[in-house]
Amino acid sequence: MNTSVEYVATDAAAYELSMGRWSRRLAEPFLDALALPEGLRVLDAGCGTGALSAALLARDPTAKVTGVDLGQAYVEAARVAMPQARFERGDIASLPLPTGSQDATLALLVLAFVPDPLKAAREMARVTRPGGMVATAMWDFAGGFPFLRLFADTAAVVLREGADWRDKHWADPIGTPGRLGAVFEAAGIGKVQERDIAIRQEFSGFEDWWQPWLAGQGFVGAFATGLEAPARSRLEGALRRAWGADGPRSFVATARMVTGEA
Ligand SMILES: C[S@@+](CC[C@H](N)C(=O)[O-])C[C@H]1O[C@@H](n2cnc3c(N)ncnc32)[C@H](O)[C@@H]1O
Repeated sequence: MNTSVEYVATDAAAYELSMGRWSRRLAEPFLDALALPEGLRVLDAGCGTGALSAALLARDPTAKVTGVDLGQAYVEAARVAMPQARFERGDIASLPLPTGSQDATLALLVLAFVPDPLKAAREMARVTRPGGMVATAMWDFAGGFPFLRLFADTAAVVLREGADWRDKHWADPIGTPGRLGAVFEAAGIGKVQERDIAIRQEFSGFEDWWQPWLAGQGFVGAFATGLEAPARSRLEGALRRAWGADGPRSFVATARMVTGEA
C-alpha cells in the first residue's frame, strides 16, 4: 500500500515547535540502541532541521555527518546550526551520494512520508558500505502515539474531512510492529531487528499542545491550517472537550525502530 504523505517542510522554527523538539528527544534512545563506534561516516537521511545529526555530533564530534532532506528551509537551518556537517537538498529515494560511501545510514521519522518506503530503504542500503549499519524509526501512529491519536480520532468524529484524513494516514501506518522490518527485509538488508523506543511528551496545557499545529508544518499542520475557519473552530472546540480539564499532560510516545546490515 502507498502510504505517501505530502510533508509540508517550509518553516524550520515552526517545525521545531511542533515536532522537532520531540525528534531531538527521540534521537537519544535511537542512538543509545545503535551504539555506533566513533568517527564513522553517517548519513542522516531525511534529516529535517538536523535533530539526529545534532544528537550524534554531541556524542561524537569526530563523526562525519551528511544530512539530506527534501525541505530546503530545513536543510538551511541545519547548515547554520552545524557548519561542521554537510547538508544537502535531496530525495531519500534517490540519494545524491555514491554507493558504499557511508558507514551508517539512519532515517529518523521519515519513511511514513515517502511515496515508496521500499525504494527509500534500498537507497539507504546502497549508499552504505557492505556490513555497515542501516536503521530507521517511525512513531507507532496506531498503537503508541496518543499525542496525535487524540487529534486524529477527534477530527474523525467531528469533521467529515477529518474522517477521510484519518482513514488516509491511519489505515496502514508503517510504524506498526512488523512493517518496517518487512520493508528492510524486502530491500535485501540483513540481520533485521525491530524494537520499541519511547519518550515522554510534556505539555503545560491544551494551548501548548494545540498552537504548534497552527504553524502548518508536516501533514497534521497542513490539515489543521487547510480547514475553513468554521471547521477549524469546530475541531478546536471538540479537541478542548477531548483534552478534558485544562492542565498539564505527559504522553508516552512510542516509535518502532528497525536496524540491519547493508
Ligand atoms: C517528521 S520529519 C523528520 C525530520 C528529522 N529526521 C527529525 O527527526 O526531526 C520528516 C522529514 O522527512 C522529509 N522528507 C519527506 N519526504 C522526503 C523524501 N522523499 N526525501 C527526503 N526527505 C523527505 C521532510 O522534509 C521532513 O523533514
